[in-house]
Amino acid sequence: MALLPIVQYPDPRLAAKAEPVADFDDSLKQLAADMAETMYAAPGVGLAATQVGKLIRMVVIDISEEKNDLHVFVNPVITFRSEEIKECEEGCLSLPGLYEKVKRPAFVTVKAQDLQGNFFEMQCDELMSVCVQHELDHLDGVVFIDHLSQLKKSRAIVRLAKRRREKAREEKEGREHRR
Ligand code: NI
Repeated sequence: MALLPIVQYPDPRLAAKAEPVADFDDSLKQLAADMAETMYAAPGVGLAATQVGKLIRMVVIDISEEKNDLHVFVNPVITFRSEEIKECEEGCLSLPGLYEKVKRPAFVTVKAQDLQGNFFEMQCDELMSVCVQHELDHLDGVVFIDHLSQLKKSRAIVRLAKRRREKAREEKEGREHRR
């Protein structure tokens, strides 16, 4: 197992459309295991292959408190979206520190394959619904701030840049302090 570097916004790979998975081989299982380890270490509740620079249609999600309920979705497709819309605050490991309210369908059904290639369907609500929609967006080159108005999105990008500068400064001061 290995921790993988997480691609940071606005890396162009985050805007790319991922390719369907055709081979359910050992390298796919290894990638899923590495993605799960990377997600747990971050820590986060979901990670798309796109976010570790692999442009294939696979995401991992675990919203459990105990971190013992891993779901791997290969070639996932949303087959049902509720008319009911819900607004929820979202964050992303590719835009760390940024949290914005995003409106999405409250309930979705997702059809996907597991690591053996078997098809399954899952009905999702609450946080699972938000996560599935957020992670599947990544496979189509969409990040959560793309759902905001142009004005809110530009403000979010400014805040993200400010946060990155602050973090870089804190790290620099930390280094100097340890000297
Ligand atoms: Ni994300």
